[in-house]
Amino acid sequence: MKSLILYYSHSGNTARMAQKFWNILKSKGESNLHELRYSDRKRNRIRHLLARFIPALASLENVPYEATDYDLLCIGAPAWGGRPAPLVCKYIKSLGNLPSARIIYFQIYGIKKSAKQSFSYVEKTLRHTGSKGLINVDISWNKARNEDNVEKVTTEALNKVLGE
Ligand SMILES: Cc1cc2nc3c(=O)[nH]c(=O)nc-3n(C[C@H](O)[C@H](O)[C@H](O)COP(=O)(O)O)c2cc1C
Repeated sequence: MKSLILYYSHSGNTARMAQKFWNILKSKGESNLHELRYSDRKRNRIRHLLARFIPALASLENVPYEATDYDLLCIGAPAWGGRPAPLVCKYIKSLGNLPSARIIYFQIYGIKKSAKQSFSYVEKTLRHTGSKGLINVDISWNKARNEDNVEKVTTEALNKVLGE
């Protein structure tokens, strides 16, 4: 199985979870891990701020992987204002048809309601991809600081998707 883990992380929680997915998935076949980054972080602060409300304005650095090459995509973000962080909104909007991929959306939140709203946004945005299935995994930022908690939710999600 070929998997791709893509994430954005501001303060490291989502990155830790992404790493956990990667550690497990590497043992199941080819797996790539990629952090989504701003291409103009320092150059245009106003645009950077506005992108929180208008994700199209976020300047996403080139992603060197083609989502259509993978059986499983794990896409992760912090919940910000009831949406994924802007770079992840921008990335998922750019995806085309993915009829043979399963998708795990993983997120870190401060307020559970925000995580629910974010997942609704992701579901709506990814509907056009026609993927084989989309599941949500979320964990609050304070629980995400504990390795065992992260391991548990990550393993459960993969078991669900891989049918183990
Ligand atoms: C700019 C900003 C906005 C945030 N907005 C929300 C929010 O609306 N809802 C929520 O549940 N958490 C919110 N949070 C909390 C993040 O979800 C939480 O800090 C998470 O752990 C960040 O993940 P990271 O460490 O990977 O950056 C916000 C955090 C930041 C920095």
